[in-house]
Amino acid sequence: MRIGFVGTGEITQAIVTGLSKTDLGATPMSLSPRNEIIAAGLAGRYSNVTVASDNQAVLDNSDLVFLAIRPQIAEEVVRALAFRDTHHVVSLVGATPLDRLTTWINAKVRLSQAIPLPFVATLNGATAIHPPDEVAAAIFSRLGKAIEVGNKAEYDLLGAASALMGTYFGILEAGTKWLENKGLSYDSGRAYLNQMFGALSDVAAQAPERSFDEIRSEFSTKGGLNEQVYANFVADGGVRALSDALDGVFSRIRRSD
Ligand SMILES: NC(=O)c1ccc[n+]([C@@H]2O[C@H](COP(=O)([O-])OP(=O)(O)OC[C@H]3O[C@@H](n4cnc5c(N)ncnc54)[C@H](OP(=O)(O)O)[C@@H]3O)[C@@H](O)[C@H]2O)c1
Repeated sequence: MRIGFVGTGEITQAIVTGLSKTDLGATPMSLSPRNEIIAAGLAGRYSNVTVASDNQAVLDNSDLVFLAIRPQIAEEVVRALAFRDTHHVVSLVGATPLDRLTTWINAKVRLSQAIPLPFVATLNGATAIHPPDEVAAAIFSRLGKAIEVGNKAEYDLLGAASALMGTYFGILEAGTKWLENKGLSYDSGRAYLNQMFGALSDVAAQAPERSFDEIRSEFSTKGGLNEQVYANFVADGGVRALSDALDGVFSRIRRSD
């Protein structure tokens, strides 16, 4: 299998970097020449990676093609390309549903879409894939976890969930700032919370059969401090604010269809 990338930006760089650490590290990979610096950097680092002369050359050199350009230019870029019916295409383009891509591609390719997160570079990705696609799943499983979903609504829900990343760091920052305001250095607070949240994530990963609520309950002694903070958070509208924010982002994703 030869892999091509139309659009060599941040997410392509993350995928190529991640794949170099897997058993696909010697697979021929062809990059479109933009972004010039990222493409040259990847080709310089990995001997299996080459920079094609243009986007069409990427397709001509590939069996599996990732579309990794921004949504604003996707129609212009994709319509200009001649796909083969035998191409397997995985679109990473945000806010661009499959029916639109199918029209632009104008060939009987096998097509799916995916939302890789930047941590694919360190093999810690969580990648939503729709519709289920064993080739895309095999690739993104090597780069972390692949979650295949059967319908567009589920895919959009995972897209909405990916918007929690900023809030994760926002909670860490709010906690660290609170500690700082009370007299602890920012660095000490940051180190403590970073270690604690990382360990909590490991606890949940090691017990996939248990709900988060069961784990929360286990970490909340009756009448204890954890129970108090969570009860205050709920009573002050923390959970409702989170649900409302997710509703908002989900509606925004659905409107882009
Ligand atoms: N970053 C993420 O975490 C992430 C995750 C999931 C999905 N996505 C999706 O993946 C797509 C790419 O995201 P990104 O973050 O990698 O964006 P990005 O860093 O801006 O990369 C897009 C690349 O496309 C290049 N480009 C511009 N015009 C082109 C053309 N005509 N032909 C080929 N390449 C062209 C740009 O090159 P120049 O720099 O030379 O303009 C740029 O390097 C987006 O649709 C995004 O929604 C991103």
